Amino acid sequence: MHPDVEKILLSKEAIDEIVDRMAAQINEDYAGKTLLCVGILKGSCVFMMDLIRRLTDVDVEIDFMVASSYGSSAQSSGDVKIKKDLSRDIEGIDVLIVEDILDTGNTLTKLMGVLRDRKPASLELAVFLEKDLGIERAIKAKYLGGICPDEFVVGYGLDYNEKYRQLPYLGTLKREIYS
Ligand code: IMP
Ligand code: MG
Repeated sequence: MHPDVEKILLSKEAIDEIVDRMAAQINEDYAGKTLLCVGILKGSCVFMMDLIRRLTDVDVEIDFMVASSYGSSAQSSGDVKIKKDLSRDIEGIDVLIVEDILDTGNTLTKLMGVLRDRKPASLELAVFLEKDLGIERAIKAKYLGGICPDEFVVGYGLDYNEKYRQLPYLGTLKREIYS
């Protein structure tokens, strides 16, 4: 275990099971279709690469968007900007947004609104984890990996100050690292 990590919440094995289950649902729903998977950089990268390799029954295409909401602090600012847009038009296309974690949902609510205006054939959301904030969000993930406690988590693509994304598990950081 990485010395800065306090506790492992999801082991590599647990993550594999989650992604297997999500991919099975997506394979069923989009069998034989073309699906544009849109990863929201950077956090969703690791999850998205694991997910698409399991989409054996779907014609997968990928693209990425960059949005910023967090900066380098551990608090959500509520301010969202699109910094990198898709490289193609999505009108009439089946689109699946792939995101690492749904916290307040501000980032994705904004992004999904923008994408919906471009008239894709369908627009759905796959989220690895949703934070247990006890709030109603404006958007719901059709494909959800699991619920995570309202703590700051790192690993499996998720960072703190751009670090820890490479950890193959999901964990919490020791308090002295971020205080
Ligand atoms: P939201 O707009 O509040 O839902 O924030 C979503 C984004 O903030 C996610 O895509 C993550 O990149 C980042 N984020 C939220 N919670 C965490 C966390 O616990 N660890 C690392 N990044 C997080
Ligand atoms: Mg992110």
